[in-house]
Amino acid sequence: MNRDYFQQKSKDYEKDKNRVDNVENIANAIKQNIEFNKSMHIIDFGSGTGLLLEKIAPLVGKITAIDVSKSMNIELASKSEYLGCELEILEMDLSESKLEKKFDGIISSMTMHHIKDITTMFLNFYEMLNENGFISIADLDLEDGSFHTEDTGVFHFGFERKEFLNFAKAAGFKNLKIMSASVAQKPQGEYPIFLLIGHK
Ligand SMILES: C[S@@+](CC[C@H](N)C(=O)[O-])C[C@H]1O[C@@H](n2cnc3c(N)ncnc32)[C@H](O)[C@@H]1O
Repeated sequence: MNRDYFQQKSKDYEKDKNRVDNVENIANAIKQNIEFNKSMHIIDFGSGTGLLLEKIAPLVGKITAIDVSKSMNIELASKSEYLGCELEILEMDLSESKLEKKFDGIISSMTMHHIKDITTMFLNFYEMLNENGFISIADLDLEDGSFHTEDTGVFHFGFERKEFLNFAKAAGFKNLKIMSASVAQKPQGEYPIFLLIGHK
């Protein structure tokens, strides 16, 4: 089965200024809430073309970018020498397998709505983190289904914030907070985006 739902979009993904601005807002919110340092090795889950990780890269030592899409990974790979940190790209479906290695944090933007089983994903995130490791995950607030105009493997029309936070709580995460991070602008409307922060 072809899991590369972004095959047709990857080349033009960053030509959409509203998309680029949205991820920049998310990156700024993450930077305001997480103290990064150059000894950190973090994951960007659903890294895509690297819009989020390129903003965080100068602040950390290494990023493991995980994405199931070959075409998005090719776009990201073309940026690797300019990022300002070491980059590893893993082409894998993180909802089906996890990594044994432990990381200092997980960042993610606009990916969780593509994941069917949120409970299991948060449990996997917890297991993949060092003690005190962080999650910093941004995604859509509940929407009416109009955000996606084509099938990109969507399982959730956004999330209700309290419910999303409770998935993380159930997995064991502490010091959880959820806040507004951005508003995604589309021709068909405006879509608020939240950021969830928590620690192992
Ligand atoms: C909407 S894009 C977001 C890309 C990037 N984070 C950004 O904000 O621009 C979602 C990305 O998640 C990836 N993805 C979806 N489900 C995944 C899974 N189960 N494992 C790994 N990557 C996944 C897709 O291939 C896609 O590149």
